[in-house]
Amino acid sequence: MRFIFRPPAGHATGLLSLPWETPLETWVDDRILEVAHRGISRHVVRFVEVDGHVYALKEIDERLARREYRLLGELESMGMPAVSVLGVCVERADGQDAVLVTRFLDYSMSYRYVFSQKVRSYSTDQLIDAIVELLARLHLAGLYWGDCSLSNTLFRPDAGRIGAYLVDAETAEMHASLSAGQRGFDIDYAAERVGGEMFDLQAGGLLPDDVDPLEVAAELPRRYRALWDELTREEVFRPDEQRYRVAERVDRLNELGFDVDEIELITTDEGTRLRVHTQVAETGRHRNQLFALTGLQVTENQARRLLNDVRSYRGHLEQKEGRAIREILAAHRWRSEVYDRALARIPEELSNRLEPAEVFHEILEHRWFLSELAGKDVGTTAAAKSYIDKILPRTPSTLTVLPEATAAEG
Ligand SMILES: Nc1ncnc2c1ncn2[C@@H]1O[C@H](COP(=O)(O)OP(=O)(O)O)[C@@H](O)[C@H]1O
Ligand SMILES: [Mg+2]
Repeated sequence: MRFIFRPPAGHATGLLSLPWETPLETWVDDRILEVAHRGISRHVVRFVEVDGHVYALKEIDERLARREYRLLGELESMGMPAVSVLGVCVERADGQDAVLVTRFLDYSMSYRYVFSQKVRSYSTDQLIDAIVELLARLHLAGLYWGDCSLSNTLFRPDAGRIGAYLVDAETAEMHASLSAGQRGFDIDYAAERVGGEMFDLQAGGLLPDDVDPLEVAAELPRRYRALWDELTREEVFRPDEQRYRVAERVDRLNELGFDVDEIELITTDEGTRLRVHTQVAETGRHRNQLFALTGLQVTENQARRLLNDVRSYRGHLEQKEGRAIREILAAHRWRSEVYDRALARIPEELSNRLEPAEVFHEILEHRWFLSELAGKDVGTTAAAKSYIDKILPRTPSTLTVLPEATAAEG
């Protein structure tokens, strides 16, 4: 047996004591976890918790495992939304298949989980938009997925929206760039698979009555094309329009969650031609700004939300203290007096429900709701208490430990 992994993987050595010599399906170990409503898979996939970290293990042909390992590593280094790969176990006893080890994507949900959850709900529209954005990002990076489906995507709450992550890269190929034909193929396949999965949900009584699987499937390529057009379209305008047209376009891309890498202006007889090169990874202005001010690392969407709260806290402090307060100081105080204090209320047993920044976002939503009811601002402390006492406990965890470790039924 040989275990190949990508540093840093300080915790990887703990994995070595798992029963690698036997088929994954038969493993009996109290470190094995059951994941609620995971996606449908071809291979045996199981989850383990080792030294406080959770990993997904997939038993798969060695050549495919090595390929997937390499591709996921490449996607990670490009900052793509995908699961992070730890390593691969090869040369197992009796010529058994290899095992690909990925880090469990924290707080992630499969689409089956999203639809079976009663407490927080997302619309099919949000799910489709998330998949479409993921596909567009992967395509910009030159990745042909070849197996895009709801099962091969993980979802994560993202400040009122939902973010999508690639989980299965077995068939994917990395190219310098993709042709329209390759992209079209990826999209048509995705639409077909998503339609099928929606029918499945419907048969299982999980799909809301007003959702038509065929309609959802047809919507996917439409939305993808609209987004792709926004991301890559060339525009021509008069020289005197140049300034605001460029600004407008950049703003629009930012609004869509994309950043501009480079802008090309070409003068032609018809006018100025604008070509934008969209940045592949989400760097995020808000995300960087929040990190610089508070040290918090969150998604762009969450950052936008938290920065608004930092700003309003600064206003509140300035009013209360009757003096101007520098942004960085206000942000530090917000972090300790508001953010950390609110989240410190989360009891240990509820810490696996939602990502901390997401809990904070929910508290802000709840504060708004309570303030509306009360007809006055109730404040973050009261909102945090109410949310953590009453709502967070009703939010299920995506990870549940098996009552007693038993071998998988298959
Ligand atoms: N790193 C991970 N984090 C969270 N869930 C995962 C992870 N890896 C796999 N899963 C879950 O397991 C399911 C099957 O994994 P996948 O790689 O798609 O296997 P297969 O090649 O058999 O389709 C996924 O749909 C997803 O729900
Ligand atoms: Mg899969």
